[in-house]
Amino acid sequence: MHRIFRRKSLDHLVGETSGPHQQLKRVLGPVHLTLLGVGAIIGAGIFSTVGTAASGGAEHLGAGPALVVSFILVAVACSFAALCYAEFAAMVPVSGSAYTYAYATLGELIAWIIGWDLILEYAVGNVAVAISWSDYFQSLLEGFGLHWPLWLGTDLRSALQAAHQATAATAAGLDPAALGAVVVRGVGALAAAPRVLGVPVVFNLPAVLIVVVITWVLVRGIHESARFNSAMVLLKLAIIGFFVVAGACYVRPANWTPFAPNGFGGISSAAAIIFFAYIGFDAVSTAAEEARNPQRDVPIGILASLIVCTVVYIIVALVLTGMVRWDQFSGVADPLAKAFADRGMNWAAGIISFGAVFATTSVLLVFQLGQPRILFSMARDGLLPPWAARVHPRYRTPHRMTILTGVFVAGFAAVTNINEVVELCNIGTLFAFVLVAAGVILLRRSDPARLRPFRTPLVPWVPWCAILSCGYLMAELPWVTWARFVIWLGVGLVFYYLYGCRHSRLNRPATARNQTLP
Ligand code: ALA
Repeated sequence: MHRIFRRKSLDHLVGETSGPHQQLKRVLGPVHLTLLGVGAIIGAGIFSTVGTAASGGAEHLGAGPALVVSFILVAVACSFAALCYAEFAAMVPVSGSAYTYAYATLGELIAWIIGWDLILEYAVGNVAVAISWSDYFQSLLEGFGLHWPLWLGTDLRSALQAAHQATAATAAGLDPAALGAVVVRGVGALAAAPRVLGVPVVFNLPAVLIVVVITWVLVRGIHESARFNSAMVLLKLAIIGFFVVAGACYVRPANWTPFAPNGFGGISSAAAIIFFAYIGFDAVSTAAEEARNPQRDVPIGILASLIVCTVVYIIVALVLTGMVRWDQFSGVADPLAKAFADRGMNWAAGIISFGAVFATTSVLLVFQLGQPRILFSMARDGLLPPWAARVHPRYRTPHRMTILTGVFVAGFAAVTNINEVVELCNIGTLFAFVLVAAGVILLRRSDPARLRPFRTPLVPWVPWCAILSCGYLMAELPWVTWARFVIWLGVGLVFYYLYGCRHSRLNRPATARNQTLP
């Protein structure tokens, strides 16, 4: 029983990543880290989910023009969590992020739970981003008059759901086409699909292809990847700037009334969805072992990227809801492009689609970079098999975990539905934030004298605000998401008892631990 509460010493944690044990190259400075954060944050959330958040959907109310309030509320919740992450990231500049912090403070079992839970944030989050990338990529091709085959650009789950809805509509004497573009697309994909043994072959090929390319880039090395990321971040900021400047000319203040058509219920359920748009600032901490001066630069990267993105989102939300009435976004996957397309400005809509492809590419890059580093840390601790902790002899990257992550993300992106994946990613990430905030409070009590290059202000109040605000957003998610989340954690616990608990490096004497570092 005592095993599950054993903790890794912080000195040991920091020691195993420095000196002769240093595995990864230290090449990233504060600007790179901030760009890494912005690269992870601005993506599918602002380009895709914002429309559903404004207008509402089957399981939740829309915020209407008060979407801007949802963005501010989530920014406040994320700032509390970011301040907690920054304290840990500066104190334990090791690549495993929240997983590593928990190992030092809350014990091995909770650390395992967080590591397992972070797969929901990074890998499952990337499944959603890859699907969004594919949608915008196909819109862009359409803009050039090229038509990607529907059965190779839709996921099987959405296609089957669409067929089900269309059948129900037909049985009720309604026209299935009136159910919207998503249903028409799904039905079209099934109709056009070739059959293998009677089973329709429908899968999202562009989503798979982009994940393969990103995985290849990351296996080659982080420095090249960071440069690639910086270029894409600048490009997407320019395109968002274009949206704001061009869109501001078409804002009609009348669209902002009523401001909150569904009251606070709409604002908070939209907040639980657009939380996805903020996920990513914590990814900066996963690159701590590759930062030149992690104690100073990782907190800068986390906080600066969150501030930049909050400002961008507030402005985009104001312009978007000023351009188009909030209830016009129902079922719209590309709301920013629609705002221009509705005015016949297809050239501007094309520029936005082009920007969305780049924005989502840089999110994919950062998340695909973060996930293997968490798995790498877990393997280094003996909680996953040792072959996972090898670094590439030439590129010095955790290539095996990078490829495994790529296979997982590509496989699920081929066949799953974006909305379900976004909610699962949100609940997993919020849970990680709650545990990190709890870790800050606990470590201040158990180890008050430790050097903290960055100190979370007003402890325990700020961590408590993080716990309560993130807990509130979790409570806003539908029960089916909770059920999936609990099942996922249950599967993780089985893995832990069957493997991690027995092979943990903390089972071995200290000398043996140091000798077996990969
Ligand atoms: N925040 C990331 C996005 O919006 C996950 O795509």
